[in-house]
Amino acid sequence: MKVKIDTEKKKYDLGDLYGIFFEDLNHGADGGLYGEMVENRAFEFDRVDNESYHHLTGWEIIGSDEEIGVKVLTGNPVSEKNPHYLAVDIHKPGRRTGIRNAGYHKGMYFQKGAGYNFSCWAKREQDLEEPLCISLQDKAGRILAEREIQVTAEWKKYELNLTASDETEEGRLAVTVRGRGRIYLDFVSLFPRDTYRGRRGGLRRDLAELLEALHPKFLRFPGGCLTHDGALDPDARDAQYRWKNTVGPVESRPARRNNWGYHQTGGLGFYELFQLSEDIGAKPLPVLSPGYDPHHYRAVPLDRMQYFIDEALDLIEFANGSPDSKWGGLRAQMGHPKPFGLEYLGIGNEEVGEEFFRRYKVVAEAVRERYPEIKLVGTSGPFAAGTEYERGWRHAGEGLTDLVDEHYYMAPEWFVANHDRYGSFPEEGTGVFLGEYASKGNSWYNALCEASFMIGLEECAGAVKLACYAPLLCSADHVNWEPDMIWFDGKRSFGSANYYVQKLFMVNQGRYTLPVVKEGFPAPVCRTENPDRIGGKLMLGSDDAAVEYRDILLVNEDSGESFPFPDVSIREGLPCGKEWAVLDEVNCKNYSLTLKAVEKKGFKGFRIYFGAKDEKNLFRFSLGGWQNQDAMVTETLNGRDSDLTHCVFSVEREREYALKLQVSGRRIRTYIDGRLCHDYRVKPVITEALYITAAKDENEDILVKAVNLSKENRKTDIVLQGLADKRCSLTADVMKGWQEQDRNSFEEPEKISPATETAEFEGTEFTWDFPAESVTVLRIQERSGQ
Ligand code: AHR
Repeated sequence: MKVKIDTEKKKYDLGDLYGIFFEDLNHGADGGLYGEMVENRAFEFDRVDNESYHHLTGWEIIGSDEEIGVKVLTGNPVSEKNPHYLAVDIHKPGRRTGIRNAGYHKGMYFQKGAGYNFSCWAKREQDLEEPLCISLQDKAGRILAEREIQVTAEWKKYELNLTASDETEEGRLAVTVRGRGRIYLDFVSLFPRDTYRGRRGGLRRDLAELLEALHPKFLRFPGGCLTHDGALDPDARDAQYRWKNTVGPVESRPARRNNWGYHQTGGLGFYELFQLSEDIGAKPLPVLSPGYDPHHYRAVPLDRMQYFIDEALDLIEFANGSPDSKWGGLRAQMGHPKPFGLEYLGIGNEEVGEEFFRRYKVVAEAVRERYPEIKLVGTSGPFAAGTEYERGWRHAGEGLTDLVDEHYYMAPEWFVANHDRYGSFPEEGTGVFLGEYASKGNSWYNALCEASFMIGLEECAGAVKLACYAPLLCSADHVNWEPDMIWFDGKRSFGSANYYVQKLFMVNQGRYTLPVVKEGFPAPVCRTENPDRIGGKLMLGSDDAAVEYRDILLVNEDSGESFPFPDVSIREGLPCGKEWAVLDEVNCKNYSLTLKAVEKKGFKGFRIYFGAKDEKNLFRFSLGGWQNQDAMVTETLNGRDSDLTHCVFSVEREREYALKLQVSGRRIRTYIDGRLCHDYRVKPVITEALYITAAKDENEDILVKAVNLSKENRKTDIVLQGLADKRCSLTADVMKGWQEQDRNSFEEPEKISPATETAEFEGTEFTWDFPAESVTVLRIQERSGQ
């Protein structure tokens, strides 16, 4: 095998290709990256956030009812934006009467000898000469650090430092009271002194450093669904994410419901996210909602868009405006007089339908007019294909969208089969921003398949401008979504196998790609059993709903034969794939199934399974999925779903639908009442002998990235055309040698990570043996002075 690289010719600019996407899900911010250790510091936790929450969630009372009583009050608070606070009544002073907090994990992690910054707002009604004792404790109440504060009769902020005398993973912060009477507390806070870049009230160092080590070119924030799921009124407790609520003093940032089922303090707000972007060398890419919530069908009236226009314009001023401007002034006041250099702005995340795009247009036009230099990012919805995906791209053609944000979470095999997804995308005009993607798992196999797909992104960098894996962070104690790039608990953190692949590609991104010619490569191998057809069992089912199917007819379109089937009823309450009526085993190439379907009870409509080999390998045409909004064709491979294509559809109870599924080779068409719904060609899984790209970086280093999915080594001659005939040094970062299902863990955090080898060669050619199932980055430097 030979690879010829033209080292003198630039193919595509790589620009800001690889970045990261931060969202506060899986407690990524509160209880994660944001260094605050106290859960419910402001007593604002509420049922709105989570049914199980109340204003004392996270707090434990120390002392008997005879000794102590606590109440959460409003009225004359520290800040009207966070109106609740705690009143502690000491009836009978005890040695240790008060409250304590265990933080977000099984307890707070205190490191022996480490410092912690405590702060709180407090006031007291009587016994003013008696102190409050602030202590770090272990679970059993052993004191690891303790200091006292004297509290006055008016609200005042108190701060002190504590140093832990011992280590514990189940630590508590306690505030105990000497003397009698009523004490008021609010914003009871504890941060490690050792935060990222030593910032007070800053970020957890280990997590921020894992992000920094990636060298991302951009940071998309503050989330996906987090940006748009919520009430449109910015003052509502369950408001959509409103960036203006996340800047200024933390006390004045209103707490909000995080749509991932918990509470968001806003402590890690837009200022901090811009700051983080700057710290890690990434361009900020904030995303705003233009007043549309697809989760609850809320849309701001089109004649009341000014708030959302201002939100975008003011954000640009906040990021880039002079300190003399209103919002630039706030940035300066918060500590950053220099602009943050915002270049990109996302409007929307995964929304579908014209209602969204009307609002997108209003906001985008206003931004274009005032700030034509800002690159606007639109959306193609949450699916990789289908009518709404196409709508997103159609709207992008209206000239108000520089990049379209695509999202997909698929089986690893989908990523292999779709390696050339962007090969047919135009290189002029609107570019692709692959804003969320991941194969379904954190194993070495997942990471390997993602790496091969990323080679495809680089090969198509004429069309693909930005890409980031998602989600980024996950607390092992609060998992909303898997897989994730980085895992942590109260003490530890580790990057997944996927993290190390992302890191290799980011650190070695390069400035532009170089043309590559492959010679003598073995033919690609097809891993799909029957690549010309979708054969297997045909079955009917539902997801939770009671449904009836009648007039069921299978037509073998190869032979013209028809096979009628008796009516089928499916009971209510069975999750998808738990009961189905098997109709037939289909082995012909071209066939169609027609039937009438009625939903009698329940919720999620109809399921037609086809091409089924077993429960873990099948296709599904489903109608009425997720909040009864979608019709989809999904492929399940080795138990992992890939939603191949989608359109918007809601099932109406008791209404009869005429459904048709037509399979022609690997082309799938579906129809509802005669209307074409999906038309999709399923790609077989084909692996190439070796996936390889080349690039040059700012220092003229040549970077060769190669992914070998096969079980054989690939010995390859690399010819560097145009390189002076000199001695070169070569550094190889190689990921290889694990079982497909191996993964990193708290116990073995770097099991799957690259090992570095070095070599030298003379001339313009060398041979490299790319190991079986491996990811390799070769960095080639011409040695000076020879
Ligand atoms: O990354 C997790 C979620 O997936 C995002 O919030 C959303 O955009 C997508 O559906």
